[in-house]
Amino acid sequence: MADVSVERVEDISRHDMNDLCDAAEAAIEEGGGFGWIDVPQRNVLENYWRGVMLVPERTLFVGRLDGVISGSAQLGRPTKNNEAQSHAGNLTTNFVAPWARGYGIGLKLIQEVETLAREEGFEVLNLDVRATQEAAIGRYDSLGFVRWGENPYYARVEGNWVAGYHFYKVLNPETSE
Ligand SMILES: CC(C)(COP(=O)(O)OP(=O)(O)OC[C@H]1O[C@@H](n2cnc3c(N)ncnc32)[C@H](O)[C@@H]1OP(=O)(O)O)[C@@H](O)C(=O)NCCC(=O)NCCS
Repeated sequence: MADVSVERVEDISRHDMNDLCDAAEAAIEEGGGFGWIDVPQRNVLENYWRGVMLVPERTLFVGRLDGVISGSAQLGRPTKNNEAQSHAGNLTTNFVAPWARGYGIGLKLIQEVETLAREEGFEVLNLDVRATQEAAIGRYDSLGFVRWGENPYYARVEGNWVAGYHFYKVLNPETSE
């Protein structure tokens, strides 16, 4: 049976960094690369992940299949000045490498982000996604995220506009009336 796990990353070993970059590259090549269109140079990708871990408003989670890092997700928090939106976290960078899909890693990553957001007192979790990402959209629907908007100019890929959907989820409906 496949061994699936998800963990919060505070520090990352060289070995895990290589696996995280490999997983990200595979997702970018397949077309679901959290904004990247072309695979960046390895040092650019490594610096991206190191940067994520340095930013206090971000928390990185990684998923593993049989011990190998195969995907990620982040909780993004509003900056200190944004008092009006201090109730809302953001789910970003949710991807799983194609070879590790279908084992529930994507689901676990979203659940971990949601759990942390709830623990930290956030009342709402926001996210946005390209309209072409059917698996992700199906998953967000099934987890109770509400699609509230569509942006026809969300992304541009190889000269073509790609629409995007915006979702929110109320994390504590009983206290958020
Ligand atoms: C979305 C993604 C993270 C899911 O990763 P995963 O580890 O395979 O996810 P899970 O195994 O938890 O669940 C996959 C679910 O998607 C469903 N699915 C797969 N392809 C699908 C499709 N084309 N349309 C609808 N549902 C689909 C599966 O049936 C499964 O649902 P089930 O558990 O109810 O059967 C992964 O597909 C991915 O990285 N996609 C590209 C990046 C992306 O779109 N990220 C979201 C940006 S916010």
